[in-house]
Amino acid sequence: MTETVVLVGGGGREHAIARALAESDCDLYACAGNRNPGIARIAEGFETLDTTNPSAVTGFATDVDATLAVVGPEAPLEAGVADALDDAGVYAFGPQEAEARIETDKAFQRRFMAENDIPGCPDFETFDDMEAACQYVDDYDGDLVVKPAGLTGGKGVRVMGDQVTAEEAKEYIRESDYDRIVLEERLVGEEFTVQGFVANGDLRVTPAVQDHKRAYEGDEGPNTGGMGSYSDASLELPFMTEEEFVDAVDVMQATVDALDGYKGVLYGQFMLTADGIKVVEFNARFGDPEAMNTLPVLTTDFLDVLTAARDGESLPKLTFQRQATVCKYAVPEGYPTDPKSGALVKIDEDSAGDAILYYASVDEREDGIYTTTSRSFAVVGVADSITEAEEIAEDALAAAGEEGLRMRHDIGKPDLVQRRIDHMSELRSD
Ligand code: AMP
Ligand code: GLY
Repeated sequence: MTETVVLVGGGGREHAIARALAESDCDLYACAGNRNPGIARIAEGFETLDTTNPSAVTGFATDVDATLAVVGPEAPLEAGVADALDDAGVYAFGPQEAEARIETDKAFQRRFMAENDIPGCPDFETFDDMEAACQYVDDYDGDLVVKPAGLTGGKGVRVMGDQVTAEEAKEYIRESDYDRIVLEERLVGEEFTVQGFVANGDLRVTPAVQDHKRAYEGDEGPNTGGMGSYSDASLELPFMTEEEFVDAVDVMQATVDALDGYKGVLYGQFMLTADGIKVVEFNARFGDPEAMNTLPVLTTDFLDVLTAARDGESLPKLTFQRQATVCKYAVPEGYPTDPKSGALVKIDEDSAGDAILYYASVDEREDGIYTTTSRSFAVVGVADSITEAEEIAEDALAAAGEEGLRMRHDIGKPDLVQRRIDHMSELRSD
């Protein structure tokens, strides 16, 4: 029987999922709030709909006789789209609303870690009373991080000693009108991501990736959803050891064991500190951009993972091309604070050369492709080394056309990678 897969979401991550499924024996149908031209071209059908409306998504899935679904972004997971699909008899590869709280409720996430003795949890407190939170800032000896408990697209966190002073942190807490926040110990080190497929108690991990959250070159400016990312030809990254990668996998395995019944992708965001690895957060889905580093080098058939998950079987062991990847996003002018949407994006796809081009939050209309308020497209270079992959990505960006768009040219360049390595050696020698 040929599987019919519904893909939910229209960003770069979902274009990467669509590309992976295009190599499998299945019929793909996609739905998203924006018409992503890359996904639309691969899919048999594409519907624009509100992906946070569970009945709209299940209506589409049943209309096309879907046998499986993959939910890309966090917002539909929080809205219970996986629950609704499962109830409608369409197995959703993505956690139900309750399990997705590992991402969607940061207060839950930290309490869950503490209650289950998951290693790598920083010192934290949760607050509903913002004056009590400000008092905690005054009393705490050291820098704290302010985290709204709910989803903010990666843009709600404020790090004391880096982005804000203690006074500014309190001002942010008082003025932001959040119902609940987490205050936690500031971790110092290098960040990395490990993503794994989870179902039937199994965890199958993929190579570590480092994302770049800051908007501008040299890690300056406000946080974004991620401006670009790289992975190496090995499972670990140049600034860490293989043992540290394994430590991260152990944390993820402990999390999967404690979650019981979780299905979908588990994304661990880690900080490698002088005292070993700590957990920055968990997400309940692939990272965006990180999916664009991972899926192009995955040689295991992605559909085989999905059907094994649905059929209650053990997940296949994963194999990868042993190659490095560099992903760079082109974003609208003004992103993330004041993004200029509705601008025509001129992409010359043929000039992408050896790079892979992924469309993200753009909208294809009759007369062209337009920017939205989020990231527009990404290019990914795949090669034997990070340096070569970076050059491929840069050539593609230059050729694709940069008019009206902004990007971080420094991501994956030897200088920046070396700074990460030097940063870790300094911390380790202190
Ligand atoms: P999040 O929304 O949890 O992904 O946080 C966004 C970014 O804030 C992370 O990628 C980190 O760079 C930073 N961050 C979050 N928690 C901490 C922490 N405890 N210490 C230092 N930086 C953090
Ligand atoms: N790149 C960070 C995320 O997907 O949350």
